[in-house]
Amino acid sequence: MTKRVRKAVLPVAGLGTRVLPGAKTTPKNMLNIFDRPILSYIVDEARAAGIEHFVFIVGRGQGAIEDYFDANPELETTLQTKGKTDILAEVLAELPKPGEMSFIRQMAPLGLGHAVWCARDVIGDEPFAVMLPDMLMAAPRAALAQAVDAYDKVGGNIVVVEPAPEGEAHKYGIVALDGREGRLNRMTGMVEKPPPGTEPSNLFISGRYILQPDIFDRLERQERGAGGEIQLTDAMARLMADQPFHALEYEGVTYDCGDKIGLLRANVAFALARPDMGEAARAAILALL
Ligand code: UTP
Repeated sequence: MTKRVRKAVLPVAGLGTRVLPGAKTTPKNMLNIFDRPILSYIVDEARAAGIEHFVFIVGRGQGAIEDYFDANPELETTLQTKGKTDILAEVLAELPKPGEMSFIRQMAPLGLGHAVWCARDVIGDEPFAVMLPDMLMAAPRAALAQAVDAYDKVGGNIVVVEPAPEGEAHKYGIVALDGREGRLNRMTGMVEKPPPGTEPSNLFISGRYILQPDIFDRLERQERGAGGEIQLTDAMARLMADQPFHALEYEGVTYDCGDKIGLLRANVAFALARPDMGEAARAAILALL
């Protein structure tokens, strides 16, 4: 019997250099996709997967994240007094239940592996999800929920993957598989940015993981990997020696919001997909062409 996945780690402490200068004073994951910050969509995805506790790994100057998920009595009272009840309802819908969110300071952006390791005490001894919030996924069933479905079938550790665009696999973390049949396959390894022509598959790691707590022991050594950073992939490779890992090719489309064009694509796609404002968005976009 596998333990249920109840907690998610959301590392947001990176510097977001690819989306500067916008990310200088606004944390990258607080940039808007249409009318809500990226993190709002990520929290919705996590809830759809049954997540009950959110562990944000934040850096200095990212207080806007905590403030967004906190009450704002002055704003709420003003909206109420002015009778703007629809807008008030939208604002209140973003608030978590008391105690649902934890915020941990990473202190220095030493790498994704280090960010995840900072969550060890809050996660404790249970499986957990890691969500890279700059990867926004539009999917018929929430991407993390698809990962949890896979976890319920095979247990162990799950890495969500998708096919890299033709000729671009060398830019990503790529998985090696023990045969490929259907969407869920046992992994034999993974490699960060393989030289072109040496990629073990075309499937890249797209930013959703379900990991066993044993990953924390493997991160404990704090060894620097590619780019001088403490890499999550290095720790996963070590854990793979002792535990099964499966790659899940999820159904959906990923938008890399850590990149300027990806952020623009996500804005357009999510605006067009809005049941209430999609038509107006389409008209506004077409008028520009
Ligand atoms: P990225 O490498 O995509 O984010 O890390 P970054 O460092 O902010 O981006 P660039 O390359 O400078 O533009 C993936 C995720 O891991 C988090 C980032 O915030 C991002 O959500 N991260 C990365 C941390 O929380 N801490 C780190 O030390 C590194």
